[in-house]
Amino acid sequence: MSSMRIVESSQEMVRACRQAAHPLGLVPTMGALHQGHLDLVRRARRENDTVAVSIFVNPAQFGAGEDLSKYPRDLDRDLDLLQRENTDLVFVPGPEDVYPPGFDTWVDMGSLADKLEGAHRPGHFRGVATVVTKLFNLARPERAYFGQKDGQQTVVVRRFVRDLAMGLEVVVVPTVREPDGLALSSRNVYLTPEQRRAAPVIYRAIRRAEESWRAGERDAATLRQQIRQVLEAEPLVEGIDYVSAADGESLEELEGAGPGTMLSTAVLLGQVRLIDNVILE
Ligand code: PAF
Repeated sequence: MSSMRIVESSQEMVRACRQAAHPLGLVPTMGALHQGHLDLVRRARRENDTVAVSIFVNPAQFGAGEDLSKYPRDLDRDLDLLQRENTDLVFVPGPEDVYPPGFDTWVDMGSLADKLEGAHRPGHFRGVATVVTKLFNLARPERAYFGQKDGQQTVVVRRFVRDLAMGLEVVVVPTVREPDGLALSSRNVYLTPEQRRAAPVIYRAIRRAEESWRAGERDAATLRQQIRQVLEAEPLVEGIDYVSAADGESLEELEGAGPGTMLSTAVLLGQVRLIDNVILE
């Protein structure tokens, strides 16, 4: 196993990435790594000479009252997992490195960021776009890896990479699921055993609509209604932030669903907010 380098400052990260063999694949994460993240790392390992992973719980993408302070953190375990995947570089900056005093520049997304997650988490994608841009500027990767599980995030990142001509390839990797269908998420650890048993309802609801689309249903309102019905039948679902059947690039809600439509939802199981999506093929 080759030795993995841990880098704590932006300056050192710039130097390390300049000196590294290219192509370089970057996997941005907030830590609390699970198999979904490790799939991104493995894909990056197959496609690049250098694999860099960042671990940074980005305060700018959490709203007031969200779970920033209790977001799961286990750096030793994360580093161990990354070492096993033959990661070359791990960037673990502190908040004062990413946002030094006087930090005053933001990547402001347009209407893409106001929909779905953005409508319920104001400022979220401004925080994501800014930190991801900064990570790209530090590492200058040829490729960057994101999970399909955060469907809107993949659309937003692809868009600003294109709009601002960042000149790198955004690779989106399929969602990894538990055997019962629940999408892996660092937030799943918050679920009580009862909520955990109920949580596969989210994917089941989306699959119900996907199957009815496969059987010929094209009316997007009907698909949204089918998702909602399955979710509402589960008593532990205490809230549904949105149910969407939207164009996979513009994220506009559709009247007619077709290939490329993204079916997505955000659901509250008690205090735990989980998201999931499927792209119709
Ligand atoms: O998907 C995440 O974990 C975060 O949004 C990201 C891309 C690491 C930016 O902080």
